[in-house]
Amino acid sequence: MSLNIVILAAGQGKRMASRLPKVLHPLAGKPLLAHVLETACALNPRRLVVVVGHGGDAVRAHFADTPTALLAQWIEQKPQLGTGHAVLQALPLLDKQHPTLVLYGDVPLIRPESLRRLQAEAQGDALALITAQVTDAAGYGRIVRNAERSITRIVEDKDATETERRINEINTGILIAPTARLADWLPELSAGNAQGEYYLTDIIARAVGEGLAVNSIQPDALWEVEGVNSRAQLAELERIVQRNQAAALLEQGVTLLDPTRFDLRGSLRCGRDVSIDVGCVFSGEVSLDDNVTVGPYCVIEDALIGAGARIEAMSHIQGATIGEDTVVGPFARLRPGAKLADAAHVGNFVEIKNSSLGAGSKANHLSYLGDASIGERVNIGAGTITCNYDGVNKHRTVIEDDAFIGSDSQLVAPVTVGRGATLGAGTTLTRDAPPQQLTVTRVKAQTLPAWRRPAKKSST
Ligand code: UD1
Ligand code: CA
Repeated sequence: MSLNIVILAAGQGKRMASRLPKVLHPLAGKPLLAHVLETACALNPRRLVVVVGHGGDAVRAHFADTPTALLAQWIEQKPQLGTGHAVLQALPLLDKQHPTLVLYGDVPLIRPESLRRLQAEAQGDALALITAQVTDAAGYGRIVRNAERSITRIVEDKDATETERRINEINTGILIAPTARLADWLPELSAGNAQGEYYLTDIIARAVGEGLAVNSIQPDALWEVEGVNSRAQLAELERIVQRNQAAALLEQGVTLLDPTRFDLRGSLRCGRDVSIDVGCVFSGEVSLDDNVTVGPYCVIEDALIGAGARIEAMSHIQGATIGEDTVVGPFARLRPGAKLADAAHVGNFVEIKNSSLGAGSKANHLSYLGDASIGERVNIGAGTITCNYDGVNKHRTVIEDDAFIGSDSQLVAPVTVGRGATLGAGTTLTRDAPPQQLTVTRVKAQTLPAWRRPAKKSST
């Protein structure tokens, strides 16, 4: 059975106290709405419509070239007169032959499995709702059932009587309804209620009146149907996503020294026997091959890390490729285009950008290597800097295999250090250094025998 899906995302989200439209606030690294769009696409909908309103242009612009969003049609609801009014705006874009599933842009964690269960309850002209039992139902629509436990209607919190307010089965808002019926019902909704809104929930009583079945399912976990109305709720859902992701990695055989101190805001592929210490943040697409260990408090974004590599504490890695058995950090910074070959070592306070470091090469302390091609078995002494920028253009530095760069050298690019060459400590290299020879630029040390330290003057 095929579905239309309508995602409601026109609301303002006042309680976020933000300029950013609510559905663009990130959860586990991507906007709330992106989660819902992905779930919707997993169901292979026949039509997918997103109803936007507040900040609609920003929302649409954000998703301009996101693959999941390309399948969607975007429509604007202005002004926002309620959930029934919102679905009414989408109606002309829906296929009347197939039922319509309503999702909320601010209820990000609903799982496709639950929606498939819901779909099974919406055969023929039946309506199907996701409801939940909660301890505090304040603010939610309540599910009203008759003596036979059949659903008869939904009453909104603000319209409910004292008795109805005591019902603790709530409407999550997610439902499936026959589209041809929606076309009859929605234009006839009334706004004669406490909020002066066109309530989508009023279709329930209408369906019951017309003799249609109204079925319900409950989610496996409450977090699936929890909405985001405030930053506190967003933070709670973030913890839930992180806990779930951590649990999945543990299940796969990854060691997380503390699953409550692990954050993944993208995708993480791990080989066998990978170990991740506390406080790390992974984003973008990261791949850790077999036996990689990541020390505490590393930030790793879009990186491929080879088998047996050791990333030590506090390293920041972004857009880098790291070979097998390399050692990085502590306190290393690898920026986009850093490529470390196998068994390379990059130590503390070394920054590498758009540069390759060959197999077995080492830059262990306090260096900046930018726009450089560095061969194999090269030793980069402490304090070495590639001067890649002349204030206008960037230039490359080439350091060939087996070169030795003495500490505190500056390589003024464009410049090449030949194979096996040695640069003396403190060299400022402004022309190529020939292979196999020592090149050094240094003022000769002198000793002045007559010199005496000044004596301390007595204070007056
Ligand atoms: C709605 C339900 C309520 C349910 C609750 C679950 C109705 C009338 N009530 O109430 O039964 O318990 O959700 O959270 O449906 N939206 C639009 N356009 C509008 C109004 C809302 O797109 O004109 C969107 C919002 O952006 C939001 C969703 O619809 O994503 C729900 O709107 P909200 O105002 O939060 O509905 P509630 O009053 O909480
Ligand atoms: Ca709400």
